[in-house]
Amino acid sequence: MFCPPDYFSVEYKINPWMDPSIPVGCNLAQKQWQDLVDVCKDLSLSVDFIQPVSDLFDMVFAANGFFSIDKKAVVSRFRYSERQGETKFYKQWLKDNDFEVIDPKTIVYEGQGDTLLVEDVILQGYGFRSDREITKLLSNEFPNKKVIPLRLVDERFFHLDICCFPINRELVYFYDKAFDQKSVHTIKKYFKNAVAVSDEEALSFALNSVALDHTVITKTEAKRFSDRLSAQGFNVIELDMSEFIKSGGAVKCLTNELWEENKIG
Ligand code: ARG
Repeated sequence: MFCPPDYFSVEYKINPWMDPSIPVGCNLAQKQWQDLVDVCKDLSLSVDFIQPVSDLFDMVFAANGFFSIDKKAVVSRFRYSERQGETKFYKQWLKDNDFEVIDPKTIVYEGQGDTLLVEDVILQGYGFRSDREITKLLSNEFPNKKVIPLRLVDERFFHLDICCFPINRELVYFYDKAFDQKSVHTIKKYFKNAVAVSDEEALSFALNSVALDHTVITKTEAKRFSDRLSAQGFNVIELDMSEFIKSGGAVKCLTNELWEENKIG
């Protein structure tokens, strides 16, 4: 599920990547977003869209709107006022599409930015954009999943999906410096192959990728990371994400995956 970048712009600074004095190329952003949607269509994925809303400049990052499995969704409650207006529209989209909507109300929560599903496990980042209490709510709402809290400590990696890329229950790529010690241990405990990537790879938004069976959609200039994936036998599709990185987002941030239990794992 995607949100077109019609109103995408960097007008404020709520993360270290954003600098309102650097202009965003609107046409280029449209093209980069369209390329991502086209790649998904080419992979025979069904794609869905939410209508963008003017003045909600970051709504294009659809991953942050909610987290869902089948027709149950937990809608986001954004940390910063600049994004809080999005909740209403994501909630409406979910209702219009027959989702049961859980509202965490007073718990700050930014959806798939911090919640990553890998088969029977939900990895939940907290510390910057989501409160730790959300893990309890997710455990209650999705009782057949094990929810694993991971504490983020580096502001440049304010969402889990920028510093952790689980491909399956055996393999995860992560940036160890973005987590506290305990969380690094937890990641290593749960994944047989927990591969720490370099500063350069992490800072290039390489981990902000989407995995679909044997295909990984990632961004260009993450050369070393693409080489790693190719060596593991993955089909790697690289896309230019230059305009969205100006706001602190790339492939995964633009993509909200509508998980269906019968297609997981
Ligand atoms: N400018 C957006 C923000 O700070 C970027 C969101 C990135 N999204 C993500 N899933 N990591 O909220």
